[in-house]
Amino acid sequence: MSDKNITSVLKETRQFPPSAEFVARTTVNATERDRLAEWAERDPDGFWAEQAKSLHWTKPWDTVLDWSNVPHAKWFVGGQLNASDNCLDRHVAAGRGNKAALVWEGEPGDSRTLTYQQLLSEVCKFANALKALGVEKGDRITIYMPMIPEAAVAMLACARIGAMHSVVFGGFSADAVADRNNDAKSKLVITADGGWRRGKVVPLKANVDAALEKSPTVEKCVVFNRCNTAVEMKAGRDVWWHDLVAGASADCPAEPMDSEHPLFILYTSGSTGKPKGVLHTTGGYLLGVSLTHKWVFDIKDDDVYWCTADVGWITGHSYIVYGPLCNGSTVVMYEGAPNQPREDRFWEIIAKYRVTIFYTAPTAIRAFIKWGDQHPKGHDLSSLRLLGSVGEPINPEAWMWYHNVIGGGRCPIVDTWWQTETGAIMISPLPGAIPTKPGSATKPLPGIAAEVVDKQGHPVPANAGGFLVVKRPWPSMMRTIYGDDERYKSTYWSHYPNIYFTADGARRDEDGYIWVMGRVDDVLNVSGHRLSTMEVESALVHHPKVAEAAVVGKPDDLKGEGIVCFVTLKQGVAPTDELKAELKAHVVKDIGALARPDDVRFTDSLPKTRSGKIMRRFLRDIAAGRQSTGDATTLEDLNVLAKLRADDE
Ligand code: WT7
Repeated sequence: MSDKNITSVLKETRQFPPSAEFVARTTVNATERDRLAEWAERDPDGFWAEQAKSLHWTKPWDTVLDWSNVPHAKWFVGGQLNASDNCLDRHVAAGRGNKAALVWEGEPGDSRTLTYQQLLSEVCKFANALKALGVEKGDRITIYMPMIPEAAVAMLACARIGAMHSVVFGGFSADAVADRNNDAKSKLVITADGGWRRGKVVPLKANVDAALEKSPTVEKCVVFNRCNTAVEMKAGRDVWWHDLVAGASADCPAEPMDSEHPLFILYTSGSTGKPKGVLHTTGGYLLGVSLTHKWVFDIKDDDVYWCTADVGWITGHSYIVYGPLCNGSTVVMYEGAPNQPREDRFWEIIAKYRVTIFYTAPTAIRAFIKWGDQHPKGHDLSSLRLLGSVGEPINPEAWMWYHNVIGGGRCPIVDTWWQTETGAIMISPLPGAIPTKPGSATKPLPGIAAEVVDKQGHPVPANAGGFLVVKRPWPSMMRTIYGDDERYKSTYWSHYPNIYFTADGARRDEDGYIWVMGRVDDVLNVSGHRLSTMEVESALVHHPKVAEAAVVGKPDDLKGEGIVCFVTLKQGVAPTDELKAELKAHVVKDIGALARPDDVRFTDSLPKTRSGKIMRRFLRDIAAGRQSTGDATTLEDLNVLAKLRADDE
């Protein structure tokens, strides 16, 4: 950032208590927060059992937590419920069927509102259609959709009949879709002809066609007509969504599922080249997302809530679909880019729908700052009362801008730390209960035993860097990596006995506030998207001209991290600029546009230790170079992170 007045997070002392007005209406005030935290500490099972009464169970549980088979937790064992019933039927039965559930705006400007009653009926019809296609409980279904209501309909229809969805972000390539189909052994793919992004149609169906060439388990493909573009429909395999639901009944009773019945798989990047299928189950996940959505967003019946994530990521699963709908909230959903047709699109949407709660990512906030204050200032943002941030550390400068320019100085900011694996928010302010500090996610939520520890697992002194861990199981935790229990154990549970390892570096200040600094493994955070360095390396070495590749992150003012690739070429291959472009395109084809390298650098050899390990720290230093941001925040955190990283010994 060009602003010279940047305060380092290590010296950040500003505090922002919620206004008296906010506190007066809040669900969890400071006293209540203390009571909940103390209760959860003293009697975790009793605490979670009481919270779980907020869900609609068709059969009560016998055991709150079964932790006998560590690290595979079972929550609310013996209980039965259905996620789609909790998100839909329950509200309709309570007389809230006419409340808006999804308020959707397409990128070209078209819009639709679905009430809870309408959403229920769409979900039932589509669930019946899935059944007619032969989908059964326990089957895996890939969803590769644009941000349209039908993405949520497809997810909830799967949940209704007990099929596990695996949503793949629409920005992933055909190859990435095929990999995920094959790992999950998906039976069916749900997609659309395309979706709108920056005025163009993203050709989703064409990508699926390519993916299905190499996805032997997929039998059928359902296609929603979003953009009216020409697509090939393969006879016997491809069916139009509108044809399927045309004759389908809107009566489809939700099937009771065991609390531990798998709800979905969501692939995320880890330290190896192969993405992990993070598995979440029904009861614990639903409790985690609905409770945190209620607490952290201080949700009220009249709120208009907008989370700008894509349903292809965990944020979309937990805080567009399951959490808010389980709470009967009105959810705004937007299909396209924030700068289409102009840079004020988000502010226009907030003013148009009178959005009260807005949840977005630091990378977006930094883009808004760059685009200029005139865009938000041109719109009435007075409906906003609470702001949220997610996905990466938020630098104090971006926090202050968000607070002043978007929040008008009156809206608390909830900086929410969590992961695909944790299912729900873990560390965050409860906005009416705790003063915030720019750049800190503040404290763990009641019931969440998050701590910062050293290599031996001992809590670190105030302000010393350490590893962020979670010492007790929690209901929305992942249950395993789909099909790979061993990888689940070694990735998360082998660093400390019976303690969950997050792979994030953090520090706790003298007030007990946690400051998350970033990953200590080989995972990059590019524009809030998680990417494995090894995934990019493996894409590169598959190119016929590449001998070896090493990929590291470098600080980037806008994206948080940029991708730098060090490449050695095969004998006789000339290191040209054309080849650089070709390699970048190759990575995009293999993974998706989100993985486009910022920089490809050719080198004669890669620096290695005597045992043959690539010296990543050295490469990171070179990649960061002297162009490094001048943002003291980033620099100091990077030093602490470098010390925490295992590969630097
Ligand atoms: C990683 C998880 C959580 C949903 C979106 C990302 C980073 C996430 C924060 C935050 C600092 C954060 C961590 C984490 N991260 N939120 N508020 N402050 N860092 O989910 O793709 O699973 O990535 O995102 O490094 O480990 P994800």
